Amino acid sequence: MKYSAVLFDLDGTLTRSEEGITRSALWAAEQLNYTGFTQEQLKAFIGPPLYVSFPKVMGMKEEDVDEAVRLYKERYARIGWLENEVYPGIPRLLRSLKENGLKALIATAKPQVFAEKIAEHFGLLPYLDGIVGPTTERVSISKADFVRKAAQMAGGKAVMVGDRCFDVDAAKEVGIDSIGVTYGYGSREELYASGADAIADDVRGLQRLILGDLPPARGIFISMEGMDGCGKTTQRTALVRHLEAMGWEVTQTREPGGDGIAEKIRQIILDPANTEMFDETEAYLYAASRAQNVRAIIRPAVEDGRLVVCDRFVDSSIAYQGGGRGLGAERIGDLNAMATGGCLPDLTIYLDMAAGKAIERRRSVGVPDRLERQKDSFYERTQRAYDVLFSKGDRSVVHVDAAGSIEEVSERMLSGVDEWLSGAAMN
Ligand code: TYD
Repeated sequence: MKYSAVLFDLDGTLTRSEEGITRSALWAAEQLNYTGFTQEQLKAFIGPPLYVSFPKVMGMKEEDVDEAVRLYKERYARIGWLENEVYPGIPRLLRSLKENGLKALIATAKPQVFAEKIAEHFGLLPYLDGIVGPTTERVSISKADFVRKAAQMAGGKAVMVGDRCFDVDAAKEVGIDSIGVTYGYGSREELYASGADAIADDVRGLQRLILGDLPPARGIFISMEGMDGCGKTTQRTALVRHLEAMGWEVTQTREPGGDGIAEKIRQIILDPANTEMFDETEAYLYAASRAQNVRAIIRPAVEDGRLVVCDRFVDSSIAYQGGGRGLGAERIGDLNAMATGGCLPDLTIYLDMAAGKAIERRRSVGVPDRLERQKDSFYERTQRAYDVLFSKGDRSVVHVDAAGSIEEVSERMLSGVDEWLSGAAMN
């Protein structure tokens, strides 16, 4: 193994922080009647000290700078730090480091308290062995001091990863290797000129440079379950947005369905004209669609390190065909063994809503498909089967009370998912 620890710069390396920084700079300037700046000009605020940027970029008068810095900090502390997202692929890289026994630390020129808040909010904290940044207002401390401290904390052979020449210079001063990344706010020329030992154009390239022959982490498979009308589709959108902001590369799929073949099977299953379909036929069709979805979509994505969100999976068959149709949970489980081929969700999100309420909601919108034309007793049996399934406690389930506003349900769901993800990162 080439390195035993990786020191990451934060802005432009782990997180795309442009929005929070540029909006805070613009807002501070506008309060003091400086207006008319382009996004390109505002981008110059990422990196250098604010005391330099306000006069240099905005031609601000000396006497206004203190107040501008105060206003900037006020807005940044309130909302700016949240106007941020993790670059796609970072959680997987951090998981890969951890699984292979490499340490990961942040060495940043951003105040340490913000770096800590950001790392925690965006789910990076459980993967990190330390965060080092300025803890005082003193501007005289150089980036090399933070890099040196982080390298000492890490022990062993460390490499510095950053998007600007300052990161490469700091690594040189400390005497460690550096990798420049071009997806942040510096240019390839800048990184070459400062003498980076290697350059990566994206997170996957960075991962290859650091890991070499070591195996990267596999991805994560999350399924979503609940009665028709429980709000699953709306909540899926919120879930995916949240996971993407945390840097997960997300693949979405649904059942019945997935690829072209599975979507054709879906049409047969849900077609209201197919009133003659036997329950057993239906059970096999769902399983057939699943066999296709697992092999065409889910398994390849997980093996590629992506996070898969699947709207319904085998639990739906156990609840609807096993419970609702009365074919029996065990038989449906057996029937699906070959379909899943052992590819089962790492986590299931269950949106729990009373059958009557869910159906009432569902029937109030749109034309019902074949499955939605069932009697209420069908849904009650389905709901009971779900309850049995998720009360066993033998697997990872985020059980969400699906009653309430969209935002309330989202909040409950996302905090459960965050908790599970950070638990999974610790293991
Ligand atoms: P869909 O329109 O996708 O419903 P929803 O948005 O509520 O998921 O239709 C899927 C229907 O198929 C839904 O009524 C549940 C049912 N179903 C089963 O009966 N068994 C299964 O294995 C699956 C995956 C779905």
